Amino acid sequence: MDKFYITTPLYYVNSKPHIGHSYTTVACDVVARFMRRSGRDVFFMTGTDEHGEKIEKATLERGFAAGEEQKFVDEIVPVFKDLWAKLNVKYDYFIRTTDDYHVKTVQGVLRKIYEDGKIYKKVYKGWFCIPCETFWSESQAPGGVCPDCKRPTEKLDEANYFFKMSEYQSWLIEHINKNPDFIKPVFRRNEVLGFLKEPLLDLCISRPKSRMSWGIEMPFDKDYVTYVWFDALTNYISGIGYPHDMARFDKYWPADYHVMAKDILRHHAVYWPIMLRAAGIEPPRTIFAHGWWVFKGEKMSKSKGNVVDPFDFVSRYGVDPYRYFLLREVSFGMDGSFSEEAFVSRYNSDLANDLGNLLSRTLSMVEKYFEGKVPDVTSDKSQSHKLAKDLKDKALALGGEMERAIPEFDFVSALTRIWEVINIANKYIEDSKPWNLAKEKRTDELAAMMRNLLEALRIIAIAIDPFMPETAVNIWSQLGLGNAGPARFYDISEWEKLESGQAIKKSNPLFPRIENKV
Ligand code: MSP
Repeated sequence: MDKFYITTPLYYVNSKPHIGHSYTTVACDVVARFMRRSGRDVFFMTGTDEHGEKIEKATLERGFAAGEEQKFVDEIVPVFKDLWAKLNVKYDYFIRTTDDYHVKTVQGVLRKIYEDGKIYKKVYKGWFCIPCETFWSESQAPGGVCPDCKRPTEKLDEANYFFKMSEYQSWLIEHINKNPDFIKPVFRRNEVLGFLKEPLLDLCISRPKSRMSWGIEMPFDKDYVTYVWFDALTNYISGIGYPHDMARFDKYWPADYHVMAKDILRHHAVYWPIMLRAAGIEPPRTIFAHGWWVFKGEKMSKSKGNVVDPFDFVSRYGVDPYRYFLLREVSFGMDGSFSEEAFVSRYNSDLANDLGNLLSRTLSMVEKYFEGKVPDVTSDKSQSHKLAKDLKDKALALGGEMERAIPEFDFVSALTRIWEVINIANKYIEDSKPWNLAKEKRTDELAAMMRNLLEALRIIAIAIDPFMPETAVNIWSQLGLGNAGPARFYDISEWEKLESGQAIKKSNPLFPRIENKV
């Protein structure tokens, strides 16, 4: 069985998760669900990044005493886990950088690289941006302003350990050039290659404990802790067993996808492969950087205070509409602007009108004309309707479309195809006017039509399952197929799977319209 290892970034636990975090995690969940269902041995990992200056600062700001970082992070981590549970995110493993085995892995990697002569000590003069946890040289951050987030940085002048990243620059450029799938989308790959045109500086990988002690101790100098990014990136191997469970590690490494937003692409596409190279480990297969959700033109971020609270949103509008909106509204890779108005309008049109109505009116007609049972089809007459053929062809093609689109994170395409089928089904109803067929007692045609609609709905349920798992189960059970939901993927490419005479179980509308204007 093919394996599939996918990761989200490890989120900082300086405060509660916001929609940006849920975006990456839900996207990975959709791909992981899809891969599992199509028979892959999936390992989907997420977790939390718990060390560093940002967390140390947040601990004090939240009223904890100095030295109580562990207590502070222990309070925040469950909030992340709660959100993932609430959003139906089914990860296989949750890693925390304060886990013991992770600490040992980081120290083991540092020791190896140190012993190989790739780490040296020198006085560091430059800038450090706390919100980004990033070092900048004097020339990279003129006037001490962070080139990424434009906030003031702090000036550093202290002895530190450096990792000889510069030695690996030409290897990395060659690796990126030889592996077109290594960084996606392609415009991000070009950005990284552009960045690598400038000489790569060695990476400062320590902080003296005298100034910042909340981190993993350097294994060769107890007066220092390691830089939080060196610590955090290593999670991708420690979490699958390196080096304490090498059987598991060998099974899943290299990662198939590291997914994150563009803000931390450089750390993943430059630092991380070089760290692995120095440690004698193969690089990951693909690093995928998506865009940002912005809010009134600005990146949503905890420190800017313009975040949308996913807990609040989901309790008002439901989990599946939220998952749907995130992945449908914006092409994965591009930036998107989040607004409640856009959400409500998409909810009402795509979910309440198109999908919700299709299910409820189809089931109402099956109740009304066929006593709530899947009709037997005795004649092929109504298959001659152009839209009947179109509906069947497009529905049967969905499986293939999804096989292509979802592993590429092309969610918009996958969902657009599904909605094409939904829209054809709705048009089919409007065009063939089943109420007239009933009046005119053209029962064979009516039966064939109901069956076509029910088959299409069954396939639609299978297709939306990775995106909207609760809705898929709901449609499944309203079709009278039991409460387990669409388990098998291959049925998506088969027609006539419903048993004649099987009772449907019409229930409440899937998506009641949102009437109040935002
Ligand atoms: N701790 C580091 C990552 C270490 S990974 C080894 C970190 N944490 S973070 O909490 O700041 O999370 C950043 C990530 O959260 C982004 O790369 C992205 O995956 C997600 N997002 C945070 N804000 C976002 C938006 N406004 N829009 C889209 N995604 C966002 O960086």
